[in-house]
This record gives sequence, structure tokens and C-alpha cells, in this order.
Amino acid sequence: MLLFPKGFVWGAATSSYQIEGTATGDNKIYSIWDHFCRIPGKVANGDNGDVAIDHFNRYSEDVELMKALNLHSYRFSTSWARLYSDVPGKFNEKGLDFYKRLIDKLLEMNIEPMLTVYHWDMPQALQEKGGWENRDIVKYFNEFSVYLYENLGDVVKKWITHNEPWVVTYLGYGNGEHAPGIQNFSSFLTAAHHVLLSHGEAVKSFRQLGPKDGEIGITMNLTPSYPADPQSEQAVDAAMKWDGFMNRWFLDPVFKGQYPQDMLAVYNEYLPDEIREDNINNVNQPIDFFGFNYYSSLVLKDWKKADTSPIDFDTVNTGRPVTDMNWEVHADGLYDLMVRLKKDYGNIPLYITENGAAFKDRVSPQGEVVDDDRLNYIRDHLAACHRAIEHGVNLKGYYVWSLFDNFEWAYGYDKRFGIVHVDYNSLKRTPKKSAYWYKKTIQNNGFSIKEQIRG
Ligand code: IFM
Repeated sequence: MLLFPKGFVWGAATSSYQIEGTATGDNKIYSIWDHFCRIPGKVANGDNGDVAIDHFNRYSEDVELMKALNLHSYRFSTSWARLYSDVPGKFNEKGLDFYKRLIDKLLEMNIEPMLTVYHWDMPQALQEKGGWENRDIVKYFNEFSVYLYENLGDVVKKWITHNEPWVVTYLGYGNGEHAPGIQNFSSFLTAAHHVLLSHGEAVKSFRQLGPKDGEIGITMNLTPSYPADPQSEQAVDAAMKWDGFMNRWFLDPVFKGQYPQDMLAVYNEYLPDEIREDNINNVNQPIDFFGFNYYSSLVLKDWKKADTSPIDFDTVNTGRPVTDMNWEVHADGLYDLMVRLKKDYGNIPLYITENGAAFKDRVSPQGEVVDDDRLNYIRDHLAACHRAIEHGVNLKGYYVWSLFDNFEWAYGYDKRFGIVHVDYNSLKRTPKKSAYWYKKTIQNNGFSIKEQIRG
């Protein structure tokens, strides 16, 4: 039996735009995603989050389902667009009421809320002022965070400033696959700089105005990189550069108050003046925990400078099984990552704030979803967590991504990550086999390694 430490937090995660729906109700304005979804060709099948899984209206039954699955904690995010008002310094109280109702229900069910301030719903009105490229956004984000601390700090004790700064800024401003759809490497660096600065400011404000018994951290998506051939200088260099591009560019400012020197050199001709001139020590505020999302790793063969970008990577397919996202399944990568975080960034309490997999699920004629691939994925990654804890990694909890099938950004509703199936016609929720397995695992605070799941 792989038993987890007493007090280990078992959770599940979602985000506002991906599940809430009610795109314009209760004074909500459009976010960049409401806007982006309406640009032809940006999102698969022309899907959008207008209804999503209607969590805005069904939150109460959803929380009851969380309880039935034994969840200790639920990670969700607040939609900035739902809370935004066009009067400077004011926010939409009707939007706040929704989060109060949700949190009250969670507390009534004895489920700990973990709140992510920003999981990508930038108000379109702020995007029109430049979004994350406008330095004033640091101030706006701070005002928004303080509003949340002051209004929800009595009931929420675990806070996350940002979800996945790399995705927000590289996919949003670098390659344009995500809203707002900008394709410019310098824009990516500018946006990333402001996201990092805004994290530092929001943590500083939390210490002054947040709940005294509260904790705050940030969540990054980290993808460990390996050289295709450890003897090849090119491959080793490529793996190092990928790590710099995706992981260290964000980790180093938060933990060390500086950008990685090697990447500053690689990005040289794309660096905005702000990055050359600013002292970013302020980004390095003490945080109470570090959250990270892990899905896969990458094996690199080479990199080169491209015409419009300082980096173009050549990756290798290892032949490992892949998920429906075409991401290789590599549970050992999660173990390696945690050991590395401890070595390079200290023994800070860690939460895996997302881990999970999309697969093509089928509902049987009996109405069951037998998702053995997902179950095995979660189980193997939890086994890697157990191994890391045994080796001294300070892992405090695990949040499966996702509780529900939901809107998977540019892929629309095509990709299903949930441990709970959602029928997008009836919006009926059906726990999958993985959800029942997770429920039992939570109840036992671990699972048997002898348990036969595969075939
Ligand atoms: O659905 C996303 C989530 O919003 C952020 N992390 C990765 C998930 C799967 O792509």
C-alpha cells in the first residue's frame, strides 16, 4: 500500500472560464476569451464558454458531488471579467456574490477553497488598453487582488496569484494560439515581465491586507526537458534552453529575483528596455507554497534561432504512450521535476495544482465511463509523488485536473480531462471510473500498488 503522509491534501481543480458559463449575466463583461472565441478559426468547432458546463447555476450540486467524491479541497479561479466594472476602483458586486455563494457551499461541505486570482479571464476592456503588455496592468491586477483579499480573505485561506504565466504570455502573446492571439516574441517577454511584476506586488499587498492566517503562492506549468543523447552537446544545450525558456524564465525571478543569464543572452535582440533596466528583486517575495502543474516532459535534439524568434526547438518522439493532447505520458518526469525543484529552489511546501490527462472517453450503454487510461495516468503520477515524498520532497497536496470535462481553450470541448464526464447536451455529470478510484484513494489516504487496473 502506498500511504500518503497524514494531512496530505487531496483535491481537484477547475477554472472560471472553462466551467462557469453565464458569459454576460449579472453584469459580467466579455473577457479576452469571450472575444477570442468569436474570431473565426481560433477555437475548434467555433466553441465558446457561453454555457460551458453551467457551473454558475449548478455550483451547489457540483459541490455536493465534490463531497461525494471525498475531496478535501477544491481549486477554482475568479473571473476578472465577472468582477470588473468600468468605474475605476469599483468592482461588480453581483459577480462577487457568486464566489461568496460558491465558497459558503464549499465551507458548509467542509471542503477547503483554494483560489486562483488569475486563470486567464482578462476583461476585454483592459485588453483594449494593451492587456499584459501595458505596464499599468500591474497596478490594475494589484487592485483586483486586494479587492478579493478584502472581500474573501475571511473565508479563503489558500491563494494563488497566477496560473501558468508561460501559457498566459507565450501562447497569448508569443505564438498567438491563445487569447489575445498576438504573435511577437518581444510582446511575450513584455507580457511575462508584467505578469511577474504583478505577482510580486500582489504578494506584497497580501502581507499587508490579506488574511493574517492565509497563505499565498503562484502556480507555474513546468515541463522538464531531457537531451535526446546525453553525449551530444547540441542536445544537452537544447534541453537547457528549453528549460530556460519555459521553466527558469519564470522560476528564477520568483525564487531568486533575477532572470537567467544564459537566456538573457539568447533573447538579447528581443529584450524590451524594461527588462534591461528594471531591478526585478521585487518579484522575489517570500511565498508560503509553490504550486505547479505537470502533464508531460520533452526530449530535445537541437535548437536554432528562427526568423521571428530566438528559439526553434527540435524535439524527439520517445515512443511513450501519448494522451489525446498528443502529450507523452511520463510519470518519472514528475518525480525528477520535484527532486530538481528542491535542489535548485529550496524545500518550500509544494502543491501539484494540476495533473491529469485527456482521453477519448466513451459512455457505455449502461451509462458508465470506463476510463482506465486516465485512471492509470493518475495512479502512476501519484506513485511518483509518493516516491518523491519518501525522498524528502515537501509535497503537501495533489489536485487532479480536472474535476469536470470542460472547455479546453483552443481545442474547445473536443478534449476531455475530467474525472467526471459532462454530457454537453443535457449537462448531466457522471463520475468516471477514475473518479471512483480517486474517491477510494482519498478515503484510504493511498492505494495498493498490487491493485490490478490494466486489463
Ligand atoms: O485546461 C488547462 C488548464 O486551464 C491549465 N493547465 C493545463 C490544462 C490542460 O491543458
